[in-house]
Amino acid sequence: MNRFVCQNINNLDEIIRDILIAFPDERVFAFYGKMGAGKTTFIKMMCEHLGVECNTSSPTFAIINDYPLAEGSVYHFDFYRIKNQMGALDIGFEEYLYSGNYCLIEWSEKIEELLPLDYVRVDIEVAENEERIISLTKFIDT
Ligand SMILES: Nc1ncnc2c1ncn2[C@@H]1O[C@H](COP(=O)(O)OP(=O)(O)OP(=O)(O)O)[C@@H](O)[C@H]1O
Ligand SMILES: [Mg+2]
Repeated sequence: MNRFVCQNINNLDEIIRDILIAFPDERVFAFYGKMGAGKTTFIKMMCEHLGVECNTSSPTFAIINDYPLAEGSVYHFDFYRIKNQMGALDIGFEEYLYSGNYCLIEWSEKIEELLPLDYVRVDIEVAENEERIISLTKFIDT
């Protein structure tokens, strides 16, 4: 497990850079953390590192946002509003998941049973003084 302490938001950029170096081949990142932990903030910064050029701060509350890259896409899912995993299957979640593109997933607990065998779990916890503890666990197909 990799663990990072993010003392303030200015450290996040460097942490994400290190994470992308540590996990170069992973494509599915499942985020966990309570409301306001910083999942969206992390994902948007990660998108910038991955080369997303368009503005990722869309005001719409789409379940899926597709950010184009020079090659392929980054898919950002926010499952907060889905009722159950059927809601994810209805939008074709599994096709996105196995597309080989980056899939960055908020509220992963809602679709946990649909996650592939290989993925990285990212836990974001809020500690004292607004610090964030960011833990990454890699799950592999055994
Ligand atoms: N690493 C960080 N350090 C300090 N503050 C942060 C950090 N990440 C996010 N924040 C702040 O926390 C607030 C909530 O962030 P964000 O919207 O990313 O949370 P979220 O986990 O996506 O919430 P939700 O569950 O509602 O989707 C924002 O005001 C943001 O500036
Ligand atoms: Mg969010």
